[in-house]
Amino acid sequence: MKNHVWRPLYIAIALVLLAVAARFIIVPSDFGVHERGYMYGWHRKSNEAEWKAVTVKYQTAKSCIPCHKEKYDDIKDSPHGKISCENCHGPRLGHPNDPKRLEINRARSLCLRCHTKLPYNGTLRGSMKGINPDTHYPQAECMMCHYPHDPRRQSHGQEVKR
Ligand code: HEC
Ligand code: HEC
Ligand code: HEC
Ligand code: HEC
Repeated sequence: MKNHVWRPLYIAIALVLLAVAARFIIVPSDFGVHERGYMYGWHRKSNEAEWKAVTVKYQTAKSCIPCHKEKYDDIKDSPHGKISCENCHGPRLGHPNDPKRLEINRARSLCLRCHTKLPYNGTLRGSMKGINPDTHYPQAECMMCHYPHDPRRQSHGQEVKR
């Protein structure tokens, strides 16, 4: 056969060899199928340890119980029971080591994002107990009167008078 037939074949073989060589150099040695088989198992073994070292940002109200049980007990059966602590105090991250304490936001806006009365009839947001921020004690912090961990109570313990 003539050269012009062989030459493209040499090039094809060279490309395949190049790809095989590149695979050996680039793919990490611990990449493979591992325990879970071909469908889900393809991963780098050392990646498991990397994920274990990630600090989980939000860790749920249950994670606060060992140190703030009083707050957890107050809130759990209250109308705010469904709201996670971290919704108001921010993500726990490495607390109490880093950060040492979580944020306490006393701004009216913290509460108003849920409690400004909005005319969305027939929706969950529209059915939430709402107030008009311009007329509901406009200069005062909500916490002056409402205890955030059980909003049925006043900040100093009594039921809110109606
Ligand atoms: C291992 C114990 C521990 C856990 C778990 C923990 N905390 Fe704390 N927390 C502390 C300590 C200690 C302080 C600092 C208290 C102080 O200095 O008055 C603190 C402070 C705070 C503060 C600030 C209090 C203040 O008066 O300034 C908030 C808010 C808070 N934690 C919320 C949370 C929330 C929400 C969670 C769960 C997501 C949580 N903590 C989990 C130990 C813990
Ligand atoms: C609806 C928002 C909201 C939720 C949900 C919430 N907090 Fe708070 N938290 C506040 C506010 C606002 C303050 C400040 C109260 C004040 O100044 O009277 C506060 C204060 C605190 C403090 C400071 C100490 C104290 O005696 O006031 C701690 C600790 C705390 N919260 C922990 C928690 C934990 C733990 C949870 C969940 C079990 C939680 N909070 C859920 C809004 C919230
Ligand atoms: C993430 C949304 C959310 C945030 C933030 C929030 N609340 Fe609520 N609040 C609720 C829900 C849900 C209820 C349950 C009743 C309802 O449908 O309004 C409630 C109920 C209440 C009630 C009525 C309690 C009763 O007697 O039934 C008061 C008062 C209240 N919250 C005050 C506050 C204050 C003060 C803050 C700020 C510290 C705050 N809320 C922040 C969602 C929220
Ligand atoms: C000076 C005290 C005071 C302050 C400050 C205050 N409230 Fe109230 N709030 C009350 C009283 C008293 C009631 C019950 C009587 C009523 O419905 O007006 C009430 C009722 C509510 C209700 C229930 C409404 C309903 O339909 O049952 C919500 C929600 C509420 N407040 C949210 C807030 C929020 C959010 C803030 C801050 C932006 C705030 N309040 C500031 C005294 C206060």
